[in-house]
Amino acid sequence: MRIILLGAPGAGKGTQAQFLMAKFGIPQISTGDMLRAAIKAGTELGKKAKEVMDAGQLVSDELIIGLVKERIAQEDCKDGFLLDGFPRTIPQADAMKSNGIAVDHVIEFDVPDEVIVERMGGRRVHAGSGRVYHVVYNPPKAEGVDDETGEPLTIRPDDEEATVRKRLGIYHEQTKPLVEYYQSEANSGNCQYLTVEGTQAVEAVSSLLAEKLA
Ligand code: AP5
Repeated sequence: MRIILLGAPGAGKGTQAQFLMAKFGIPQISTGDMLRAAIKAGTELGKKAKEVMDAGQLVSDELIIGLVKERIAQEDCKDGFLLDGFPRTIPQADAMKSNGIAVDHVIEFDVPDEVIVERMGGRRVHAGSGRVYHVVYNPPKAEGVDDETGEPLTIRPDDEEATVRKRLGIYHEQTKPLVEYYQSEANSGNCQYLTVEGTQAVEAVSSLLAEKLA
């Protein structure tokens, strides 16, 4: 089971990734989480990525492609993986193809920009695991702490409204063309393409995915 989650920032990719990982027993490869871990660890990659990410821009294709290739080559990806936040540009998708990395399902989360801006204001994250919450729509069991570890939840630096709007602009310009790209791959029989109405409740989206990917 090799899955790509496609959608704007805040469309619910990370939230549904948690569900799909548990359901199919495949690892989540979140390029955003990998970059944030590199920033936290103070690596060279982290230093290069921090400024770019805080400004809501995309990290260079070259850097990201190298990172993902290395991750997919690891043992736990041999029976499948869940790509969350990659590919995000046509060159990234082309690089996957030219490296012989096939996919079974591409799932697009469709959510209007204004819903996204409102969602991001309430997002809280557990940095260690990538678990995502929302103060209203998907609250943790106890306020302000992660359900599994009890550790404090944080607000991502790029969730400030002006940065979110910038990220949305970049999404429409550089990532949205992948919708057509993968629809055409699906028409050629290379993968299955599914569009999900991402404005439904979290559980409703999960149920739909379980049904469609069964
Ligand atoms: P990344 O971490 O990948 O961020 P993103 O794609 O912008 O997506 P998000 O994590 O913000 O949103 P999401 O769709 O996962 O939504 P979530 O489930 O959290 O990337 C960050 C940065 O890293 C990029 O800007 C870039 O700089 C760099 N980067 C990463 N990958 C790169 C690449 N391939 N190339 C170049 N640069 C790259 O949900 C959002 C909120 O909504 C949460 O609070 C959640 O609880 C809530 N929610 C979710 N679903 C629902 C629902 N159905 N109803 C109500 N609320 C919901």
